[in-house]
Amino acid sequence: MSGGMASSFLMAPGGSLTGRLRVPGDKSISHRAIMLGALAEGQTRVSGFLEGEDSLATLAAFRAMGVRIEGPEGGNLLIEGLGLRGLKAPAGPLDLGNSGTSMRLLCGLLAGQGFAVTLVGDASLTRRPMRRVTAPLALMGARIATSPAGTAPLRIQAGARLQGIDYALPVASAQVKSSVLLAGLFAQGHTCVTEPAPTRDHTERMLAGFGYVVQRQGATVCLEGGGRLVGRALEVPADISSAAFVLVGASIAPGSDLTLEHVGMNPTRVGVINILRAMGADIQVLNPRDAGGEPVADLRVRAAPLRGIRIPEDQVPLAIDEFPALFIAAACAEGETLLTGAEELRVKESDRIQVMADGLAALGIANEPRPDGIRIQGGRPHAGRIDSQGDHRVAMAFAMAAPRASGPIEIRDCANVRTSFPGFTRLAGAAGLAIEEVES
Ligand code: S3P
Repeated sequence: MSGGMASSFLMAPGGSLTGRLRVPGDKSISHRAIMLGALAEGQTRVSGFLEGEDSLATLAAFRAMGVRIEGPEGGNLLIEGLGLRGLKAPAGPLDLGNSGTSMRLLCGLLAGQGFAVTLVGDASLTRRPMRRVTAPLALMGARIATSPAGTAPLRIQAGARLQGIDYALPVASAQVKSSVLLAGLFAQGHTCVTEPAPTRDHTERMLAGFGYVVQRQGATVCLEGGGRLVGRALEVPADISSAAFVLVGASIAPGSDLTLEHVGMNPTRVGVINILRAMGADIQVLNPRDAGGEPVADLRVRAAPLRGIRIPEDQVPLAIDEFPALFIAAACAEGETLLTGAEELRVKESDRIQVMADGLAALGIANEPRPDGIRIQGGRPHAGRIDSQGDHRVAMAFAMAAPRASGPIEIRDCANVRTSFPGFTRLAGAAGLAIEEVES
């Protein structure tokens, strides 16, 4: 899956980002399209699907459980839904590669099936905390074994009779919320989840789009088990988390003027735009419209002088995947940027606070990591070598520093960029960055 050849990005300094482009489909929505399409009755046609390794891992898992899926071809898929009770036992463990979303959401979706199943992943995924999902699922009656450290492999036992629960999330996590709600589809009675702060709501929106009744009251979402989902056509918008790299690159590269097409603008995902604008970025939202229950727009971004800010904590869950990119914006801003309340960054595909801090230091950018964030002193990155630690978003973030760097930047361990942004080097090159990918 993500264990292909190691590769590095070689970035020459300078360049600007111009033109019009569309980044690949939203990863969160792509995962959910497969999951809900598989559980629906009838066919689901998907366009704009992300053909990245993470969402393809979800697709392969459902094929292994007997779901017929045609494609993907040019982002198009046809899923033959099996209904809520139609999944079959896979022949072996489901390998979810690098994908935390696949593992956590599937854990909930599979907790109440009539068959046993084991979920495994790569080295990074096997380090990530899973008790945050297995604990509430156990409260519902699921029997799931983890490693002693609370990590994968996850061994889900067959035949658990799930009961709905009323669960207050201890961390603001859409993955945990979604895992519990997906288990709730198979539970007796009501399942309710209350979140401490708003997190992405694609699961709730998409369930409603498939005709499932979901009720929201304030911070609480509820559904009742045993309903039905009806197949539909579904259009996946471009991923704002992938667009984020380009928004940062174009903001800091002098002379940039670029338009990103059809970007998902779900209000639970737009923290990166709010934060960049607060730093002085010039981002225009054009032609806002609806794409099957998700708001989308085109984004025009032009280079602008950025200034450091104190990032409001209420924006953290709304920009949780965009901090590697935002740290590069901070590194090229005037003055200091302070991030707090973001300890979750330490348990992403890598420890994103430490890995970014090390990379920024390698480029001569003064910074001070903290348990829950970082302080970054803006300046001019110099030449250097970065170890991305196999984290796709760290690799792409540092690629965006090149236009402002005083010398070449080498970024190592970039193969996992394919998990979320296939075609990144081609697209970044076409937009104006001098990027070369070499096998190493
Ligand atoms: C995701 C939720 C976020 C995010 C991840 C995708 C999802 O994780 O970081 O990349 O699709 O639900 P948490 O919910 O754990 O913060």
